[in-house]
Amino acid sequence: MRAKYVVVGTGGRSWMYTHALISDFKDVAELTAFCDSNQARMDFNNKLIQQCGHPAVPTYRAHEFDRMIAEQKPDKVIVTSMDRTHHRYICRAMELGCDAITEKPMTVDAEKCQQIVDTVKRTGRGLTVTFNYRYSPRNTKVKEVLKSGMVGDILSVHFEWLLDTSHGADYFRRWHRDKRNSGGLLVHKATHHFDLMNWWLDSTPELVFCLGDLRFYGKENAERRGVTDFYSRARGSAVAAKDPYALKVSDKDERLRGLYYDAEKEDGYFRDQSVFGDGISIEDTMGVMVRYRNKAVMTYSLNAHCPWEGYRACFNGTRGRLEFNVVETSYVSGAHEDFNMPGMRELEGRRDAMVPQILFQPHWGKAQVIEYDQKDVGGHGGGDVRLLNDILRGVQDNSLGHAAGYLDGAKSILTGIAANESIKTGLPVRVSSLVDLPELFARR
Ligand SMILES: NC(=O)c1ccc[n+]([C@@H]2O[C@H](COP(=O)([O-])OP(=O)(O)OC[C@H]3O[C@@H](n4cnc5c(N)ncnc54)[C@H](O)[C@@H]3O)[C@@H](O)[C@H]2O)c1
Repeated sequence: MRAKYVVVGTGGRSWMYTHALISDFKDVAELTAFCDSNQARMDFNNKLIQQCGHPAVPTYRAHEFDRMIAEQKPDKVIVTSMDRTHHRYICRAMELGCDAITEKPMTVDAEKCQQIVDTVKRTGRGLTVTFNYRYSPRNTKVKEVLKSGMVGDILSVHFEWLLDTSHGADYFRRWHRDKRNSGGLLVHKATHHFDLMNWWLDSTPELVFCLGDLRFYGKENAERRGVTDFYSRARGSAVAAKDPYALKVSDKDERLRGLYYDAEKEDGYFRDQSVFGDGISIEDTMGVMVRYRNKAVMTYSLNAHCPWEGYRACFNGTRGRLEFNVVETSYVSGAHEDFNMPGMRELEGRRDAMVPQILFQPHWGKAQVIEYDQKDVGGHGGGDVRLLNDILRGVQDNSLGHAAGYLDGAKSILTGIAANESIKTGLPVRVSSLVDLPELFARR
């Protein structure tokens, strides 16, 4: 029998799930309804599925969630709505007898995290947090190497994540720019990174210290750099037409138009706000120190304004050092041709997309490249496809612990939530003080 699914939150990310449900996984899954606060977005998704040969499904507004569950009787609820709303649907779905599958971050603050944990325990329902990055072959290889003991006990880690002026800037154009919606990048984005580190180290964050600020985006920073022309949104703005940081959408882009521009009239949400506007409450420049229960120390940095995007993780162990370098996107020749920005052309070809490299150097020994299967492509380093298999067909092989539940979801956001608290107070934060979850801190 096929499992019945509903999708809550029908924006950009939801399509990966919706499309999977109506195509590659239709033998085991059935899409039965959409739920969103915005009717136009649901209607657009219905148009998309009809183009794929699937009949339109019933749509329910956010306040009709309970009615949807009563009428459609889904087995599972997929939550892909705005971050600050996740807990409402996760908890209500479980209370109404469904399992929940949620996009990261599980939620955005400690109070909502506690509510989710308490609801899982009270209802006994299943909650999966979809950490696609774990599944990419390169990240899996790092897990394998660390688990094998080749590097010995890990004493310290240097972890740096770079977001570029295209993808990184996008968080400052959208709802994410308000910290109440997303928890800031330390929660919204770094939940992926802290989850990887928890999984790689097989440990739990214990003590967190963080410094962070908005130093690049925002009106005040732009003014300081001498910018004098501003706009609030890109669409229809002559000033934005000259701003390489602005989202440029051609009227021919049916998807962006259908999902956002045609939906604006309902909720007043603009997808293309200026990254140099006022009202941004998230950081773009962050440095975090974490001590884990196993005594490993991590220095982590996240910058959202870099010329290229990717990450570097270096593990110092008792047997040597593992270095892992990934360039995810590079400057794309021609992508900025209409801007004639000073310096843009000189940038061309500055950094080619690089094959990710995993390098191990034992103490007193020669450095060696660790080989792994690089053939695989697809969203999030090949992670999306594998993740979908696990969540829609059931986990086949969990020998490396890829499948993530609510405890992993909680662990991954607690580092960022602690970091946010530390920014506010200027003090280190003990992670166990944030939630009542003793089982998380019981082991190394
Ligand atoms: N794992 C990944 O790699 C990945 C990538 C992108 C997005 N995401 C996650 O997916 C989620 C959605 O992101 P997106 O990029 O699709 O954003 P989006 O803005 O395109 O979509 C968000 C949707 O939520 C809806 N919404 C807002 N408030 C709501 C409410 N109260 N009730 C119901 N729906 C509501 C909006 O109308 C919109 O349709 C986020 O949690 C994000 O973190 C994950």
